Amino acid sequence: MNCVLEARNLHLLRGGREIFAVENFGLVKGGVLALIGPNGAGKTSLLLTLALLERPSGGTLLFSGEKVTPGRLISLRRRMAVVFQEPLLLDTTVEKNIAVGLKIRKVPDKEARQRTALWMERLDIGHLALRRARHLSGGEAQRTSLARALVLEPEVLFLDEPFAALDFPTRNALLNDLGAILRDTEVSTLFVTHDYTEIPFLTANVAVMFKGRIIKSGLLREVFGAEIQRRENLVPWGAEQAELNA
Ligand SMILES: Nc1ncnc2c1ncn2[C@@H]1O[C@H](COP(=O)(O)OP(=O)(O)OP(=O)(O)O)[C@@H](O)[C@H]1O
Ligand SMILES: [Mg+2]
Repeated sequence: MNCVLEARNLHLLRGGREIFAVENFGLVKGGVLALIGPNGAGKTSLLLTLALLERPSGGTLLFSGEKVTPGRLISLRRRMAVVFQEPLLLDTTVEKNIAVGLKIRKVPDKEARQRTALWMERLDIGHLALRRARHLSGGEAQRTSLARALVLEPEVLFLDEPFAALDFPTRNALLNDLGAILRDTEVSTLFVTHDYTEIPFLTANVAVMFKGRIIKSGLLREVFGAEIQRRENLVPWGAEQAELNA
């Protein structure tokens, strides 16, 4: 399998405690993988480690088949983008928020303006270009935050529960738009969520994380079975917990 990111025996210790230990992990080039698990499972810690923002305690990471070494961190980080649950926008306009990463990367002004305009349009926030970020609704702020990541044309996109704070219709509209964008751009994406109903909008591939381990992965319907159609408030890791405690 052609993977953009691979991890082997990757683990993270904090305060003498194991936060996660992942034997094998691969993010297929151009694919979208959902990583689901309950609070405290280690999803964010794994995401930050894969995004090279957290230093692992051990293990190997490969980017496009090449080992990640300390000397490559800065250049590799520039090929990735992260969107968090909190949009973390600067106190300026939507347009400037989206363009900020392009400025840092010294993209020429004209190109930066064109790319910013394109991504505002794709995320349906063109009419908000001059609006200050602190006057946006939650959905508009998250659209801005997604545009700010996508405008960088990253090779890997990390999404850490970006929809968790949005109401249902706002969330669904954004998931629909993002699903179309991801299919179109084929940006390799790791999508962290604790809500399985979000997953089908973006992908059929899922990995389940529980207590710092990836305990299952595969197609959504294989991992969740018929449950996914039957029970609205499914707790997918419930059965695994029972197994682990047995
Ligand atoms: N820097 C740190 N130092 C000590 N413990 C940490 C640190 N970062 C995370 N943890 C612990 O690691 C565990 C996993 O946290 P993490 O935030 O990765 O989980 P998560 O699956 O993203 O949870 P949530 O769904 O609540 O976002 C938690 O018990 C957390 O308290
Ligand atoms: Mg988290």
